[in-house]
Amino acid sequence: MLAASALRLLRLACARAPAGCPGQFTHPSNVRPLTSPTRRSLSVRPLHLLPSSRPDAETLFTSPNMWLCDNELQQRVRYAPFNPDAIERVACESLGVNQCTSWQILGEGSFNRVFLLRFDSGAEAVVRIPMSLFGNVERATASEVATMCYVRERWMDHRTRNMPFPPKVLAWNATYTNPAQTPYIILEYAPGVPLSTRWPAIEGEAAGAVLQSIAELDCALLRGQTFASCGSLYFAEDAPDGSSPLYANDECDPVELNRKLAAKYRIGPTANREWGRPGYDRVDADRGPWPDMPTMIKAAAEFQLRAMDTVVDFSSSRVKSKPSDIPLLRRLLNICIRVAPLIVPSDPALTAPVLTHPDLTLNNLLVPPEGRAYVHHVIDWQGASIAPYCMQCGVPTAIVYSDGVVPIPLDGSMPPWPEDFDTMPPEQQESVRIHHRYACRHRAFVLRIPRRDPLRADAWALPHSTVLEFLARYITRCISNGPQDLRGLMIYLQQRWTSVADYPCPIDFTKEEIIAHSEEARDQEEYERNVNKLRAAVGCMNDGSVPVEQFEAAKEKMEYYRGLWDETDMKGPFPFYEGAPSYYLD
Ligand SMILES: *[C@@H]1O[C@H](CO)[C@@H](O)[C@H](O)[C@H]1NC(C)=O
Repeated sequence: MLAASALRLLRLACARAPAGCPGQFTHPSNVRPLTSPTRRSLSVRPLHLLPSSRPDAETLFTSPNMWLCDNELQQRVRYAPFNPDAIERVACESLGVNQCTSWQILGEGSFNRVFLLRFDSGAEAVVRIPMSLFGNVERATASEVATMCYVRERWMDHRTRNMPFPPKVLAWNATYTNPAQTPYIILEYAPGVPLSTRWPAIEGEAAGAVLQSIAELDCALLRGQTFASCGSLYFAEDAPDGSSPLYANDECDPVELNRKLAAKYRIGPTANREWGRPGYDRVDADRGPWPDMPTMIKAAAEFQLRAMDTVVDFSSSRVKSKPSDIPLLRRLLNICIRVAPLIVPSDPALTAPVLTHPDLTLNNLLVPPEGRAYVHHVIDWQGASIAPYCMQCGVPTAIVYSDGVVPIPLDGSMPPWPEDFDTMPPEQQESVRIHHRYACRHRAFVLRIPRRDPLRADAWALPHSTVLEFLARYITRCISNGPQDLRGLMIYLQQRWTSVADYPCPIDFTKEEIIAHSEEARDQEEYERNVNKLRAAVGCMNDGSVPVEQFEAAKEKMEYYRGLWDETDMKGPFPFYEGAPSYYLD
């Protein structure tokens, strides 16, 4: 098993060989791609409404889904009441129209409920109501609006042709005390369909347009503007005490515009959910703005150490870390504090604070329903933050292909077709064709981006680029998710320390500990694969939810599989039980 893990590490090293291919071709054995926190896609459910209608209040406030376990609690944290009349009034005012004629529930994402409002003039607008399970919804909303407005203002007159934009904010309020009784954002309706609906089928120029748009957004955000510190954006009047100016130097290009923006916006505490989710919001921590990368990493580790001492109930079945994990968690977090100043890349451009979209998934990219799929709008900027370039420059989620059905060659050549492709049944051929497309797109992106942005090749060529990409997330989830991911990352860093820093290695896992870790990590990976298969068989989302009308059937299937589940074979407990760990509840 050491051999297997060494092999995978080697694959990772090889993946970098052709000048700067990113770590996401494959992850080191003990660094797993962070799959659990994927946000739920906005499930669009058409509602058949008569014009001039509004669903009854409870329908507007309640989740259209049910959960296979902890249903009552899952629904309660998504219950989001508000005053619909007040929302209508604000929307009408912002559009200069007289009357709202209909509401349609567009869908529910992980943290927001989204409605489409139509008006007598024919105008349309989108209303986003955040759900309390995001945590610190007021701060997140204020920052999300400021981020969307900033991106539009900063690049409106300086954008490349195909750079997608956030939709325009028409009205908003981040408090629960306004007449609508909830934080809300009213947005211009952005026409188009989520890219997820076209991604498997499009080819050639239609798909090339997607890569082009994403690359333009990516380069504008990551290379177009650096900031004075790490944190999240706020309007100056909302920015809390201790906020930082926007830019280190107001005279940066374009000077006139940047002076104006520097007066209007500031950098405040991070709006990243991990720092404000329910429970953790009560931890007294330094949430930024942080002047530099080591301060940010150190603050994250101290935040978790403080959480251990104050808010975390290690006896709760929802917390994956057990009381026996406490010494390991402390050891890991203290290691993070020690390595923070030692893993900073020497090129200052690699640590310059930059803004990115927090979650560039296929569902957040809106494209025309047919033709070339240039992305016109990028939605859902909730939790966007400014952080060092080398921690923000991974391959966007929409592009990452990690299923491995079709391998991406490490030498940069085209992904091969399986040798037995011609003899496969037609359905299997069709599925392989889709995987092949995804693999080609990932390859095309990582080959093209460094041509536009040579700094990307430098970042991807760092021996610890994967560590930099995942570190903040793994630290802030290490109690809730269990210490294994962070331990994997630290072992990975230890194994290549001599090429990272010219300083004695502060990470001291023994050979035995590393072997034990590899075994545990392998079991955990297998368990997760089994759970994913179970979810697919039951037909639920990765948070264990199903649409109300499918609940009874899904529950029946779940009970059937519960009877078949063998904890030893499956490498862990049947995942659906009351009190089970849930990304959303802890
Ligand atoms: C939000 O509502 C509160 C209370 O009505 C008000 O004081 C505040 O100015 C509003 N904020 C914005 C951005 O409109």
